[in-house]
Amino acid sequence: CGIVAIAGTETVANRLVDGLKRLEYRGYDSAGIAVRAGPRVERRRAQGKIVNLEAVMAEAPIDGLMGIAHTRWATHGQPNEINAHPHMSGKVAIVHNGIIENFRELRDELQADGRSFESETDSEVIAQLIDKNMNDGMDAVDAFEAALKKLSGAFAIAAIFADDTDLLIGARKGSPLVLGYGEGEMFLGSDAIALAPFTRDVTYLEEGDWVVLTPDSHDIRNVNGERVNRPRVQSAVNESLIERGEYDHFMLKEIHEQPESLARSILPYIDQATQTLNLGDVADKMFAGADRAVAIACGTAYYAAHTAKYWFEQKARLALETDIASEFRYRNPVLPQTGPAMFVSQSGETADTLAALRYCRQNGTPAVAIVNVPESSIAREAAAIVPTHAGPEIGVASTKAFTAQLSVLAVLALNAAKARGHLLPGEEVQAVKSLLALPRKVTEALEAQDGIRAIAETLTQSRDVLFLGRGRYFPLALEGALKLKEVSYIHAEGYAAGELKHGPIALIEKDVPVVVIAPMDELFEKTISNVEEIRARGARVILISDPAGIKAAGNRADHVIPMPEGDEISLPVLAAVPLQLLAYHVAVAKGTDVDQPRNLAKSVTVE
Ligand code: G6P
Repeated sequence: CGIVAIAGTETVANRLVDGLKRLEYRGYDSAGIAVRAGPRVERRRAQGKIVNLEAVMAEAPIDGLMGIAHTRWATHGQPNEINAHPHMSGKVAIVHNGIIENFRELRDELQADGRSFESETDSEVIAQLIDKNMNDGMDAVDAFEAALKKLSGAFAIAAIFADDTDLLIGARKGSPLVLGYGEGEMFLGSDAIALAPFTRDVTYLEEGDWVVLTPDSHDIRNVNGERVNRPRVQSAVNESLIERGEYDHFMLKEIHEQPESLARSILPYIDQATQTLNLGDVADKMFAGADRAVAIACGTAYYAAHTAKYWFEQKARLALETDIASEFRYRNPVLPQTGPAMFVSQSGETADTLAALRYCRQNGTPAVAIVNVPESSIAREAAAIVPTHAGPEIGVASTKAFTAQLSVLAVLALNAAKARGHLLPGEEVQAVKSLLALPRKVTEALEAQDGIRAIAETLTQSRDVLFLGRGRYFPLALEGALKLKEVSYIHAEGYAAGELKHGPIALIEKDVPVVVIAPMDELFEKTISNVEEIRARGARVILISDPAGIKAAGNRADHVIPMPEGDEISLPVLAAVPLQLLAYHVAVAKGTDVDQPRNLAKSVTVE
């Protein structure tokens, strides 16, 4: 979900909608806005995307100088208008991100008190609680604070009030909230991107902070209600990175941005003069004496971690156990004794990943965050952060963030290898050269686009698509399948090529497309044997490989997608590019909503 709010000196309705559009990637099940019009608070809401809200507002305009707005990814209650934010009760209107874990108890209490609820959401209790406190005689600020103390869970909230309370109040606990400074105006947003149209002058509120705003004042309090000062900084959000430009979709733009996003992600960790790795002492401290390490993430970030497992084991001789955060956090895992836990996350706000990090911290395992948002919760709570510099990623399906994660994990694995004495100086120079060549090679990989589009057009009617890879290309097969299902809604499965005959081969019948990721390496022939097994059963093979692999495969593939040559570090990164383009072009050919696929959200701040 996303929040944007303004305490302004000029009308806010259109500006709130502009801010919401920047946040739409966080959820698009419903959207809504509430503004103070004189002493009254008025609200408009609509199911579905922000365009629907705009249509409602065009028919029944509202405006005022103070307002809150929200775009929702449904957790409790269906994505209909009644459950859309803002929620109102009496004099109060609120928008909320996250989950109120004790909402049932609170709702029961409030209902016992004679209050009735309009929606099925957990969020409505916030408005009802504040309103009840005000009816009990508290002023808005005290009523808000008292309500805050009763809420458990993770949330960000913004509230406005009817009558003579001309205040905007916000709070953060678990979900991010950014305070923005304008000229005689104040803003709140779920992230700096939402505030980019208004200001880059921001304060990242800290855990437990809440803030009382008027157009020209801000009063930040901590969890104990004490007034605090928080640093005021310039957000690094760059307008050109959040505009779609000449591209039809953000996803396509972000795929094509990878030469730059990779260069930005790799260069800070390399000393170009000496062609050596330069990560500071993180690697020595964390990896030199490690017995093993763990890497935890969700979704695409998990597949980046899974790829890194091969690098850490092969290059650094360090056992790396990878796990999905939602599994890890609840199985009472046995942690490394002397090694770190790595957390990979684009947003740095994924609730399960954050909870897994807290579990490790409580148990004394040092946490390293590989995140794309340096101000995020995961970054703040980790012992060390090794940022990716992919820039803002707006397309819901992750592309440039994934390759940035891979490149930074490669840097970490190589540094670990060095710290553990497994990287000879000659090998280090070689590895650095390979990393530095990645942006150029990704440009080359992008040149296969026309051929990929033609192949994509043959997949639109497929019911299932299989993706196969071995070794370090196995996680790429998983990611390729995830990408295709996310954006095209075609059922896709990734498999380890060697596992195929243990079950999934039953799915193979005439013309089932099978995408095989197999650049030439020591396992190439084995993968190609698996290809023979499925070709014999009628599968249509789409081979993604480098020139040597394509040559060796001869006529054993029905289609080939060429990728540049590379080594064990660069090839998995390069293989991501055709997989992204394939998913993208299938989706475009099918006419799905590429940047905002159904049911998904970019940043999942709920469990
Ligand atoms: C959501 C997104 C995925 C992403 C995953 C993890 O499900 O739709 O694209 O990979 O969350 O997000 P994170 O921000 O932690 O990388």
